[in-house]
Amino acid sequence: MEVIIRETYEEMSRAAAEAVAHVLNAKPGAVLGLATGSTPLGLYRELVRLHKEGNVDFAQVTTFNLDEYVGLPPNHPQSYHYFMHQNFFQHINIASQNVYIPSGTTDNYPAFCEWYEQRIRDCGGIDLQILGIGSDGHIGFNEPCSSLGSRTRLKTLAESTIKDNARFFKRPQDVPIYAITMGVGTILDARRVIMLANGGRKADAAAAAIEGPVTSMITGSALQHHPRAQAFLDRPAAGKLKMVEYYEWIQAKKPGAPKVFVD
Ligand code: PGA
Repeated sequence: MEVIIRETYEEMSRAAAEAVAHVLNAKPGAVLGLATGSTPLGLYRELVRLHKEGNVDFAQVTTFNLDEYVGLPPNHPQSYHYFMHQNFFQHINIASQNVYIPSGTTDNYPAFCEWYEQRIRDCGGIDLQILGIGSDGHIGFNEPCSSLGSRTRLKTLAESTIKDNARFFKRPQDVPIYAITMGVGTILDARRVIMLANGGRKADAAAAAIEGPVTSMITGSALQHHPRAQAFLDRPAAGKLKMVEYYEWIQAKKPGAPKVFVD
């Protein structure tokens, strides 16, 4: 995995937004995989700024979100539909028919999950998937012991995730117990992946995902199998990495390196 470390959350978000904008400017009809949670908020703010300045256009972009809570309708303030509209979609020129978010209220989850996977394929696959990482190492809602080949499906959330996410709800008992999430296999099919992590609270999970053994106990570690995965970290989230000096050496030497990828 390529590891890019910035001193602050704002700098990390800006660097990740530049990488996303680069993809969109090279392929205006790109398909993005999107994440929710507190981590990508800075990235969305930066993309909105770049859009308002005329530096990135979403008119032809299609998006697929990673996950949604089961039982929350799209207009529920804690639903991921609502989150995406509030924090991103209402500020950019994306066409509403090009936005896909798993349904938290379907009456047939297996059929919905199959349809979601098929829609991703029909749209040509995901060009760039954005991810956060949970303190238990999850990507999407692929909790510890999720199959590394899993596809979009219903998951029971881990108690630690319910506790982590209780901060967004009025009462801890309001946090949904089930979610629908893209699988690890779905995520690995994306052509490029960007994982974001900020804050010391994520240092263990980031180190385990980037440098630990590949294990379903830390589903983020599956990204080690991805040929084009990048981790953008702020300094505190990089606090437990063993190879920081090497990662920074690579970045410092990058401008002089032979160009590998054409986009
Ligand atoms: P957070 O969640 O960004 O709110 O910390 C990340 C995740 O659980 O993937």
